[in-house]
Amino acid sequence: MSIEIIILAAGQGRRMRSELPKVLHRIGGKPMLQHLLETTRILKPHRTHVVVGYGADRVIDVIESQFPGENQNPHIEAGCEIDCGINWVEQTEQCGTGHAVMQVLPHIAADATVLILNGDMPLISRRTLQLVSRCRNNLILLTSNLPNPTGLGRIIRNSDNEIIGIVEEKDASAAQQGITEVNTNCMSLKAEHLGAWLPSLQCANAQKEYYLTDVIACAVKNNVRVVDISAPDPVETMGVNSRSDLGRLERCYQARLADQIMANGVTLLDSTRFDLRGTCEFGIDCILDINVILEGRVKFGNRVSVGPNTLIRNACIGDDSVIEANSVIDHATIGKNCTIGPFARIRPETVLQDRVRIGNFVEIKKSHIKHNSKANHLSYVGDSQVGENVNIGAGVITCNYDGANKHQTIIGDDVFVGSNSQLVAPVQIGDGATVGAGSTITDNIEPDCLAMGRARQTTINGWTRPPKRAPRCKPD
Ligand code: UD1
Ligand code: CA
Repeated sequence: MSIEIIILAAGQGRRMRSELPKVLHRIGGKPMLQHLLETTRILKPHRTHVVVGYGADRVIDVIESQFPGENQNPHIEAGCEIDCGINWVEQTEQCGTGHAVMQVLPHIAADATVLILNGDMPLISRRTLQLVSRCRNNLILLTSNLPNPTGLGRIIRNSDNEIIGIVEEKDASAAQQGITEVNTNCMSLKAEHLGAWLPSLQCANAQKEYYLTDVIACAVKNNVRVVDISAPDPVETMGVNSRSDLGRLERCYQARLADQIMANGVTLLDSTRFDLRGTCEFGIDCILDINVILEGRVKFGNRVSVGPNTLIRNACIGDDSVIEANSVIDHATIGKNCTIGPFARIRPETVLQDRVRIGNFVEIKKSHIKHNSKANHLSYVGDSQVGENVNIGAGVITCNYDGANKHQTIIGDDVFVGSNSQLVAPVQIGDGATVGAGSTITDNIEPDCLAMGRARQTTINGWTRPPKRAPRCKPD
């Protein structure tokens, strides 16, 4: 039995009040449509057809860039299959969900089983999709029971409790609006049935649209059994129509991730104030304080501790390292037993070896710092290589940019750079050298030398400061 999947994603999502096509709004940092595409892969569909319309080019570009290496041609004509398995089908005018499915019909094999999904229902589970897609000669519909069904299509049943149709809220009578069992638009049926019923859809309804939901009545009329499955977890079937829906779903998603992470042995000091927008691997006994945001791919060793209000993006943090409050770590590798922050910024392409200490208001960019070195206060280290056991004093700055190009600063092992020094790159400081505080270093320093680059102190004996002028009397 071959399955073909249809994902409806042509709508703008007017209720979002956004220029961005609705299916590109993100949950957990990932476009809603991408969530769905990743989940539907489990079904190994023969093909996945995505109906696009509003912002079609943007949807195609964003989604294809998320499956790198799987497609070579990012600017694809609608209706033409690509390597990531998506057949993009354009619906030029959005005349309703039934009309959207009609656009796909010519691309579907006559003997296929078709699974239809809304592109705005990102958290449906693999298990539920597997259950819904097991249709034989019947129609399987995923329903949900919601205390507040506002805006959704209501399931209509007869006196034998069999489903006989779906009524959209705008077309529903007051009594029908009281029904709390709702349609998710997730259904499977035979392609031949779809082909027979779609052409009969009418748009004589409140929204003047061709409703996909009317195929349920077609099934009933043609004696095709309608089987309903209800989702085990209501979060799975939560659709996103507004920003509040998006916000609610984001919190549900994060709660789910937090539970998984805690189940794997991580302490979250407040699981409602933790956000993962990507993937993270943890060693044992890591502790994350409140408002930690992890983005992209993050990897923690064992016993890593992260302070409050910290952003970590695409980074690896070694065993026993401590990230103090209010730090930002972006595309960096941090060794074992390091201490970072509070208020530190570790920028892309930085590698810190073991036992490195980076203190408050220190920025490190594209630099490699070896074992046991430290920059504890108010420094900027950019485009640098720093050896082992180096002490970078308070307020040291590598002047890496001459207004046109970036230059390297190379610091050997056991170097001591006195406070408030500027190292004007390109410059090299040999092993064991010392830079006197307040120096501006423009020339290379040989190993084991002391270099000072500052004006000599002048002292004037018996100097008296000018006396303070008496305050002038204010006119009254
Ligand atoms: C639809 C269902 C409703 C169900 C709800 C579940 C219909 C008529 N109603 O309503 O019964 O309870 O989903 O969330 O189907 N789309 C297109 N082309 C169009 C119109 C829509 O591709 O011409 C896409 C949208 O991008 C969206 C999906 O179809 O991803 C659903 O459209 P939406 O307008 O959100 O439908 P609802 O009013 O939520
Ligand atoms: Ca919807």
